[in-house]
Amino acid sequence: MSSSTAALKLFDLIQSHRVTAVIYVAAELGIAELLRDGARSLDQLTEATGADRQALGRLLTALSTVGLCSRVDADRYSLTEIGAALDSSAEKSFKAWAIFEGDMLFKSWHGLLETIMTGKTAAHLLGARNSFDLMARTPSNVGMFNAAMADLTRFVTPDVLDAYDFGRIDRLMDVGGGSGELIGAVARKYPHVQGIVFDLPRCEEAATLHLQRAGVSDRTSFTAGDFFEAIPNLAAAIILKSVIHDWNDERSSVILQNCRRALPEHGTLLLVERMIPEAPGTSDEDRAHAMSDLNMLPPFIQPAASASSRRAFAEAVAWVVVLHTLQGRPLASISRTSSRVCSARLPPEASSPKTEARLSRALSTVRCGQWAGELHSCSLSFSP
Ligand SMILES: C[S@@+](CC[C@H](N)C(=O)[O-])C[C@H]1O[C@@H](n2cnc3c(N)ncnc32)[C@H](O)[C@@H]1O
Repeated sequence: MSSSTAALKLFDLIQSHRVTAVIYVAAELGIAELLRDGARSLDQLTEATGADRQALGRLLTALSTVGLCSRVDADRYSLTEIGAALDSSAEKSFKAWAIFEGDMLFKSWHGLLETIMTGKTAAHLLGARNSFDLMARTPSNVGMFNAAMADLTRFVTPDVLDAYDFGRIDRLMDVGGGSGELIGAVARKYPHVQGIVFDLPRCEEAATLHLQRAGVSDRTSFTAGDFFEAIPNLAAAIILKSVIHDWNDERSSVILQNCRRALPEHGTLLLVERMIPEAPGTSDEDRAHAMSDLNMLPPFIQPAASASSRRAFAEAVAWVVVLHTLQGRPLASISRTSSRVCSARLPPEASSPKTEARLSRALSTVRCGQWAGELHSCSLSFSP
């Protein structure tokens, strides 16, 4: 690569926040929804959005250059396949995430320099205990965050449903389940499953509405509480998705110990987390993982969190890590043998044909990354 090419590549990377801004504005203006049924002219889009005609034209040109729209003739625009994912009604929509990224995350990433210099999170720098407490100061942020998480969860839910047979569970509690996206999907697929969403009281309204819309409110409910205080004993299985990654080892242990207390002796714990490769390269996927890891730092991770604890909950390829508890003891040692296959060794005391069969069923569905031993101190730990 010549020095000019390298410098231009850097120049392009430096300006990448502009792409976020353009997509954010398109999401706020509902451009994807306006183009859902076919191409529309700049005049029509101007009238529908109330935007400045000339500025909107430039926005549409910019959107075309990043592949979200295309210009079909002199001044008509249509949506591309990528742009269609900005429509809130798309099956795999990232509209709410675009708004969260362009509004809330954009602001918190502005404090990255101070965070890197001090090791303090954005929430700590603003005098809050953590990002969830900080969010509570601006109620509209809670809605924005919940909606964004629902986008992401909706996206990975087919993987989760593929990876694990929830048919063997009667009552499932989603701890930190937000607005109920995952429980709604599990309950829809498994008509016998009773589901509980456990989260802070501020999620109740959104979760109740979502579960009603999903048509499963007769079998699902919301229970408010604080997972650092106590988790109610309401289900034989607990699922935690994108929860553990928010906290350092000590806080994660408290959550998991409370899960252990809430579960019956032969209860099941399911963790769904995204993992970061040990040595990320420059692929788009690795970059997304590394940025997500860094994103956890400004708003989420407590200063004491170690890098390895964040890595420990990352997964290179798939999003699904499904792990069982067995009487509160580690069920198995799990080690990765390739990006999608892992092997497992049962601790001697847990070894029996029945548990081995159960484990092998569980592991055949696990697409597990490297599992480091960061949770050793708690009763649900798994050895590396
Ligand atoms: C990253 S979100 C994950 C939401 C959901 N599991 C998902 O994947 O879409 C973390 C969730 O933990 C919840 N949470 C944070 N602190 C909590 C606490 N102390 N007790 C209960 N829930 C909490 C938040 O409200 C939020 O819904």
